Amino acid sequence: MLILGVESSCDETSVAIVKDGKEVLSNIVLSQIDIHAKFGGVVPEVASRNHVYQVSIVFKEAFKRANIRPEDIDVVGVTYAPGLIGSLLVGLTAAKTFALIYNKPLVAIHHLAGHIYANAIEHNMQFPSMALVVSGGNTELVYMPNNYEFEIIGETYDDAVGESYDKIARVLGLSYPGGPVVDKLARSGKSTYKLPKPYVDNFNFSFSGLKSAVINLVHNEAQRGNEINKADLAASFQDVVVEILVNKTFKACEAYNCKNIIVAGGVSANSGLKERFNTLNDGTYNINIPSIKYCTDNAAMIAVASYYKLKKKKDYAILSLNAYANLDLE
Ligand code: KG4
Repeated sequence: MLILGVESSCDETSVAIVKDGKEVLSNIVLSQIDIHAKFGGVVPEVASRNHVYQVSIVFKEAFKRANIRPEDIDVVGVTYAPGLIGSLLVGLTAAKTFALIYNKPLVAIHHLAGHIYANAIEHNMQFPSMALVVSGGNTELVYMPNNYEFEIIGETYDDAVGESYDKIARVLGLSYPGGPVVDKLARSGKSTYKLPKPYVDNFNFSFSGLKSAVINLVHNEAQRGNEINKADLAASFQDVVVEILVNKTFKACEAYNCKNIIVAGGVSANSGLKERFNTLNDGTYNINIPSIKYCTDNAAMIAVASYYKLKKKKDYAILSLNAYANLDLE
């Protein structure tokens, strides 16, 4: 089965062609990072305009790289929620147009299901599974009793973890997106700053207190004329974040008697997170983390999620499918 995947929920225009939910024939990702970096974050209107400029080019390139004709596609899978509404609408309209012209069935994919199923490209996902979904907009623990069944058992009360990374990078004068830069800096520093570890009930999270503590520390030290050791502060912040994420995931696994862990979303690229999961795993858990190219937004994960959604149920979308800025993983 050849699936065409389309993703445009934030600032990456991406089109992919994936065979049988595994073999990535093409995965073109045109990022707008350079455009948004000068604003210190994604500007929604600018993002949707650039998707419009880029989407046809990315479609053409995906077919060229895969050496596939549009007629050969069996199914079109597209991200319809959640995300920036203008951005989502561009990819959705392009996917629906393709489906209409070539008379192909359409599958609606939740962006976070895409991130979770990015793991199926390089691993054999097993169930029941506990998915830690960590991105710029979400921090959630999702219990999956079976393929394509999602139960959100915990989420952040305030900032998403990627968002905190981005804000801390900004206060430290680092570039956007902050996650990869803070991660790299943390590797050269030591966890020497004492930062608060938020206590949050059950499997929920909160990062705004920790983020504010870092911002206040930077401002206070600047007012006193003291220099901050950025690498040590990055390492201290990462240490606390990673401890919270890993501990909660293991606790959730115990509570749900689950031995399979899936890490998904942009922050799954974090080196400290991977390292902590691997060091604390005594062999009890089967831990899946995608390789870096599948951690951040891409359309291959959308095509793969479409394959597994259809495996569960032949649930096709109609061509009047709309986009939604906010929608829980069902
Ligand atoms: O999943 P994603 O590509 O986009 C969505 O938010 O849907 O995630 C982007 C987020 C950004 O906040 C970025 O700073 C963060 O993932 N990120 C990282 C790393 N790489 C990307 N955060 C921490 N460490 C990283 N290595």
